[in-house]
Amino acid sequence: MIDHDGKVALVTGAGSGIGRALAQALAARGARVVCADIDADGVHETAAGLGERALPIVCDMADHEVAVTLVHDAGTWQGRLDLVCSNAGIGLNRRVIKQELDERAERLFEVNLFANLRMAQAYARWTEAQGSRGRLMITGSENSLSVPSAVRGSGLALYAATKHGVLVMAEWMKLEFEAGNVPVDVHVLMPGAVYTALIAKHMPDPSKAPPELNLIMPERCAEIALKGLDLGLFYIPTHAHLAVDMQPRMRGVAEAVEALGLS
Ligand SMILES: NC(=O)c1ccc[n+]([C@@H]2O[C@H](COP(=O)([O-])OP(=O)(O)OC[C@H]3O[C@@H](n4cnc5c(N)ncnc54)[C@H](O)[C@@H]3O)[C@@H](O)[C@H]2O)c1
Repeated sequence: MIDHDGKVALVTGAGSGIGRALAQALAARGARVVCADIDADGVHETAAGLGERALPIVCDMADHEVAVTLVHDAGTWQGRLDLVCSNAGIGLNRRVIKQELDERAERLFEVNLFANLRMAQAYARWTEAQGSRGRLMITGSENSLSVPSAVRGSGLALYAATKHGVLVMAEWMKLEFEAGNVPVDVHVLMPGAVYTALIAKHMPDPSKAPPELNLIMPERCAEIALKGLDLGLFYIPTHAHLAVDMQPRMRGVAEAVEALGLS
């Protein structure tokens, strides 16, 4: 079990939902938490609930310079930065047939994918410069792995592309960090449906959620996330159906290998 007591964590997207629950769960285990978000009201509300344990920072993760500044400011606050939860994210629902590569689509990739890369680079350089060791957990999704049966038809193609990107980028990152002795352990949190603002837009009443969604609350998601870190897991799924939803893709490739006579 990781001892978070007296440690410092940076959580992006801490003004709401999963990020807020991660900040609260880390603080409950003794950590001091730098809470970053573009939503000033949300991030100050999160920080106010944690008192002196929290430092709120308002920033836009799509800003290319932000990761370096944020890591520097978070690390300077208490002279250490033990964990970064790179969690801020946005959604976009549109049918593939109508997907337009407009500004919203570009922002989706900036926030959900490239911001995580910039954060990883900034944190890796900071830990190397400090001669310290760190831990990075990037928030992917059930959409990192498959077309989940519960959200089929929801127009998540571009969102899912960003989340697939997060996963494969983290897999490469982990290998590169290990090979290059970069002192950062990498993890990917892959939530299924969690009742946050992201979902509440489409489903105001969580009690009316279809059972196949297996909707959980952000606090449960954070609890699983911290347990995953405690166990040293690289893949941290929050729902059992993630493993099941992957199977059609793997089976499809296996059947194609068979059909093509490649086995
Ligand atoms: N809720 C779910 O069911 C679910 C499932 C899988 C993955 N996720 C992922 O979890 C993460 C957190 O989402 P959530 O469900 O808690 O949603 P949320 O909307 O409650 O929280 C996301 C937070 O990120 C912040 N944010 C958005 N863009 C930002 C930017 N450019 N810079 C800084 N902060 C920014 C928002 O202001 C918000 O506070 C996201 O990466 C999301 O894709 C959520």
